[in-house]
Amino acid sequence: MAILVTGGLGYIGSHTVVELLNNGFEVVIVDDLSNTERFILNNIEEITGKKPVFYPFDLRRKELLTQVFDAHQIDGCIHFAAYKAVGESQIRPVDYYENNLFSLINILQEFKAREISNFIFSSSCTIYGQAEVMPITEKTPLKLPESVYGKTKQMGEEILIDFAKAYHRKISLLRYFNPIGAHPSGKIGELPIGVPSNLVPFVMQTASGVREKLNIWGNDYATEDGTAVRDYVYVVDLAKAHVAALKKLIDDSSADSLIDIYNLGTGNGSSVLEVVKAFEKANNVEVPYQICARREGDITIAYADPQKAQKELNWKSETSLEESLRTVWEWQKYLNTRS
Ligand code: NAD
Ligand code: WQD
Repeated sequence: MAILVTGGLGYIGSHTVVELLNNGFEVVIVDDLSNTERFILNNIEEITGKKPVFYPFDLRRKELLTQVFDAHQIDGCIHFAAYKAVGESQIRPVDYYENNLFSLINILQEFKAREISNFIFSSSCTIYGQAEVMPITEKTPLKLPESVYGKTKQMGEEILIDFAKAYHRKISLLRYFNPIGAHPSGKIGELPIGVPSNLVPFVMQTASGVREKLNIWGNDYATEDGTAVRDYVYVVDLAKAHVAALKKLIDDSSADSLIDIYNLGTGNGSSVLEVVKAFEKANNVEVPYQICARREGDITIAYADPQKAQKELNWKSETSLEESLRTVWEWQKYLNTRS
């Protein structure tokens, strides 16, 4: 079966392509390289011994996308491609709405025209905002996200739900918590493009001396050590969840339900300080930090209830925080050899 993977050379996409290839799927990648680099494609081939088909173009170019669907018998899509920086989305809202929504709609137009089903969407825990009760289940009420980025994810989900109902196609909305780590081969991971806003890439760069200090955004939260708590899920585990979700869409072709929704996290919350300490312990390095004021828009605590994914996808995250953080350091070492 051939699966279109948009954003397949990006962070989560590249790990998922590896798992798809290892599971015998044919993969067709569309990625405009706006937030990644071409060497990731070669490294996917080194890891798997297989070369996915790759088209380097922007999904907003509808005519090129149509050509891909004409050239390949596409059986499903995992749609990762999007802009994802929360802070940037506030100052470039039109670009975020345009890229994240038009790209999605262009693919759905092709699906609609060709009777293709099986669509997996990269959604985010950001659409729950600060939930009242932990852990967060799929039934936890959604809040209107504060960021433009978050709104594009909530709108994307709504568009897909309407699409599934109107055209009777199967979709899966995967709400990731905080993905971290890199492939155990050390050959693919999150590329450090620009100044990272996410915690783990910043920790990685601080430990390696690229940044002087980590700024910890607030230690006056109502948590055990005062720093904010998140659910950090290992990217290879997350990638495997996509294969499980895809197989369920494909195998369950007679099922009544058209819309699958899963929270993908570990079920455990870790504070910022716990992440820093775990990184230091896992890699035997120091991470200098200073406590700063809270970051605007941040919430206190979020962690998933992953039981639905465990029950229906037979998936659960298996990799510890420390082990995940060890792979981050291996990836940094690999990047050092390239510079
Ligand atoms: P990423 O930036 O590493 O990957 C996205 C890829 O899509 C990049 O390679 C980029 O070049 C490509 N791309 C972007 N716009 C494109 C376009 N118009 N046409 C073709 N290619 C395009 O991001 P990621 O961390 O791998 O995230 C993947 C998806 O998961 C995104 O939709 C993101 O919003 C979502 N998500 C990410 C996180 C996270 O913390 N990383 C959490 C929840 C959800
Ligand atoms: C984690 C914790 C920070 C950087 C974001 C998006 C969310 C999702 C995942 C896409 C917070 C603290 C961070 C730093 C710090 N992405 N921190 N110093 O904010 O939970 O979620 O990424 O969908 O939508 O909002 O992740 O990694 O930015 O922060 O103290 O330099 O680390 O305040 O408590 P977040 P994050």
